[in-house]
Amino acid sequence: MSTTQPPSNPGAAAAAPRTAAAPAGGSAAHASDPRVSDAAVAGLAPAYVRAIAPYQAGKPIGELAREYGIDERTIVKLASNENPLGMPESARLAMMAAVGDLARYPDSNGFDLKAAIARRYGVAQAWLTLGNGSNDILELAAHAMLQPGLSAVYAQYSFAVYALATQETGARAIVVPARDHGHDLRAMRAAIVPDTRLVFVANPNNPTGTFLPPAEVEAFVADVPPHVVVVLDEAYNEYLEPELRADSAQWVRKYPNLIVSRTFSKAYGLAGLRVGFGIAQPALTDLLNRVRQPFNVNSMAQAAAVAALGDDAFLARSYAMNRAGLDLLQSEFEKLGLPYVKSYGNFVLVRVGDARAVNESLLRAGVIVRPVANYGLPEWLRVTVGLPEENRRFLAALKHALGRV
Ligand SMILES: Cc1ncc(COP(=O)(O)O)c(C=O)c1O
Repeated sequence: MSTTQPPSNPGAAAAAPRTAAAPAGGSAAHASDPRVSDAAVAGLAPAYVRAIAPYQAGKPIGELAREYGIDERTIVKLASNENPLGMPESARLAMMAAVGDLARYPDSNGFDLKAAIARRYGVAQAWLTLGNGSNDILELAAHAMLQPGLSAVYAQYSFAVYALATQETGARAIVVPARDHGHDLRAMRAAIVPDTRLVFVANPNNPTGTFLPPAEVEAFVADVPPHVVVVLDEAYNEYLEPELRADSAQWVRKYPNLIVSRTFSKAYGLAGLRVGFGIAQPALTDLLNRVRQPFNVNSMAQAAAVAALGDDAFLARSYAMNRAGLDLLQSEFEKLGLPYVKSYGNFVLVRVGDARAVNESLLRAGVIVRPVANYGLPEWLRVTVGLPEENRRFLAALKHALGRV
């Protein structure tokens, strides 16, 4: 059935440094105070904090340029599920208009953005929590609900932040084996124990791109005991075909233990600004806001998100470009005989065999994708859908790496 405490979190670098033992010397003394060694400082934190291995982000373009001596302008980055169209022009204009007010703190309650989201999703503002990216919403949920002695349930191969958010509270992780690279909801329900307070469900999931039909997700939420909060992470929702999109904002009316989380980082093209939001009933929203930093979403981000939310034309372009790119990548993988997981997001997980070597060859060709060995998928790479010419660059470099030219 389920496993318990994971050996490390899947977002972590495989060989990330870890501080095993506490005090009593060993490492170098602090430069400014010879009585304080690094090990002693590390020992000040709880063991569960010391056991955290840092999140491994996609390789920045500048880093590849420096390391491999490649001209930045020629590098293609398909590693972080960002929007290849860039940010919407409407959001850029809104930010320029907001610049004049930067000496002031942002609206802590995010009135204008909440009003726009509330209108869009047919919920009251009191049901909304704004986040510094939806990552923040995941962390707020963990901080509000978890502590040592409690547990959180999530799926193998699911988004790395679920492990991090759980571990940083000292709670126990119950990692449920995946089925066909996706969530096994029946097993996840069975894995819930009396001390469980949180379940994370990603739909679609990252890094696998798998999708659960809305009816199955709602049946799962309905079946979860009331002492457990479900975080339904829908970061890639806008990339789904319209008929597959769940009416999850309305599910929140029925389920007081449900948080739906969404982001402006993907289809809305604002990853660098860090804006996301959670929808939940007021009692749960109140808990999230108790652990939220007062000014967690800056004023430029709030202004840009309001504009992006109203920019249906940009969203439609993002969607259309992604569908065409997904079709291209998946059909080319088929022609190459490479197994891949059918994707419902803006990226595809593809099995290339010696992923380290293939990745190295791609980097030399100036193409950055995401190795996923840290998720326990050492033969796979995750590639984000790019602009048409970026997809072609990637495919050419991949064929070269595989000796298939
Ligand atoms: C499934 C999933 N959830 C949440 C996030 C967090 O995104 P952000 O914090 O940019 O909203 C990501 C980012 O890649 C993701 O893949």
